[in-house]
Amino acid sequence: MDSLLIKGGIPLEGEVQISGAKNAVLPIMAGALLTEERCIIRNVPDLSDVRFMGQILASLGAEVKFEAGTLEIQAAKLKGTGDYDLIRKMRGSICILGPLLARLHQAKVSLPGGCVIGSRPVDLHLKGLAALGAKLKVEGGYVLAKAPRLVGADIFLGGRSGPTVLGTANLMMAATLAEGVTVIESAACEPEVVDLANFLISMGAKISGAGSPTIQVQGVDALHGTEHEVIPDRIEAATFAIAAAATNGEITILGSRPDHLSAVLDKLRESGVKIDRRGRTLVVSRGPRLNPVDITTLPYAGFPTDVQAQMMVLMTLTPGLSIITERVFESRFMHVSELARLGAEISIEGPSAIVKGGRPLSGAPIMASDLRASAALVIAGMAARGSTQVNRVYHIDRGYERIDDKLRALGARIQRVKEA
Ligand code: EPZ
Repeated sequence: MDSLLIKGGIPLEGEVQISGAKNAVLPIMAGALLTEERCIIRNVPDLSDVRFMGQILASLGAEVKFEAGTLEIQAAKLKGTGDYDLIRKMRGSICILGPLLARLHQAKVSLPGGCVIGSRPVDLHLKGLAALGAKLKVEGGYVLAKAPRLVGADIFLGGRSGPTVLGTANLMMAATLAEGVTVIESAACEPEVVDLANFLISMGAKISGAGSPTIQVQGVDALHGTEHEVIPDRIEAATFAIAAAATNGEITILGSRPDHLSAVLDKLRESGVKIDRRGRTLVVSRGPRLNPVDITTLPYAGFPTDVQAQMMVLMTLTPGLSIITERVFESRFMHVSELARLGAEISIEGPSAIVKGGRPLSGAPIMASDLRASAALVIAGMAARGSTQVNRVYHIDRGYERIDDKLRALGARIQRVKEA
């Protein structure tokens, strides 16, 4: 397993181009299963999760080509069962369930493994698809689903932690080919859901309300091929903005969608980070002083849970007490113990982490645990004195395109050490 060796204390300077959004492209790839015609998807980041999803679609019989940031997918013929080892490994693969049911009226999909940030249930996915008439059962680690016909229905999709992003995606995709109208209440409002809806609409789907808590889908007989450009990755943009502030540098972030980052930019400004917005370009640097903040992660448009770990690193550098409360996932503080190895003082009280910031971090070997925690540890290593080795960086390659190249281009002293 590769590691990243980082020499800290160097302010990041320069320009970085934001890649396409992982969490938009994965459900969009599944959506390409809804037609037998060719779909061309542009601005696709070269990530291991994207390649994984491509292999899953190919195992289902789709033709998949990926080169130079463009995906071509054609599911002319499909089979209802895929490569279960692959499907089991990646949570995002659950979103092939809706398209397979809509296209083939049957599907066998392995339950996504839990991961370090929580149990990752799919009860809401199953509730929604059952409301459309699917017969579902969970057996031997798989979801077995049959639906001779899908019929539109009104469904409340809210769960104990609020809306479900991929659950909304699954249901919206299944509803595009159901008979009649489906209304999804308490739908997720994330920009990635809107991007998926726009992709489906360009295929001939009749969807309104995406981006709001109520989405309406009028079923149609068939969808056709399309071309679509994926939105930029708001989490990658947030990650680089925080890296600029944490290293006391100044970077220019190109090609983001600042309108997808309002909660993050608001909190960063409150914490003393200087942000100049020029159209889709953000110039970010640390202001004269950093201030402690109180953050709660919420469904969109609240502060995103996927930026929680990165923000915690900035708070360890900020004199005073900051409080970060995680309201979306039940256990997303795996990075806390690793940050403590760098000298951070953080205590966990239930869903909140209390960060006593202001002491400099000092480098040490640390272990990545999940995608966003890994990014946080890289930021911490760049902000710390001395050298830090972040192990198991395969986590980070899942969701950040060439992050070490991009950081080196900004002046970071970071190198990838291939495991012998
Ligand atoms: C998506 O995961 C993202 N992944 C996650 O990003 C992101 O953190 C999450 O949305 C929340 O924004 C992709 O889009 C591939 P959820 P998803 O269903 O859809 C509970 C990253 O780092 N829940 O919105 O799987 C669930 O346990 C990843 O890029 C149920 O209870 O998340 C959680 O507490 C990490 N029952 C909450 O809802 C269900 O059936 C939100 O989960 C489904 C979810």
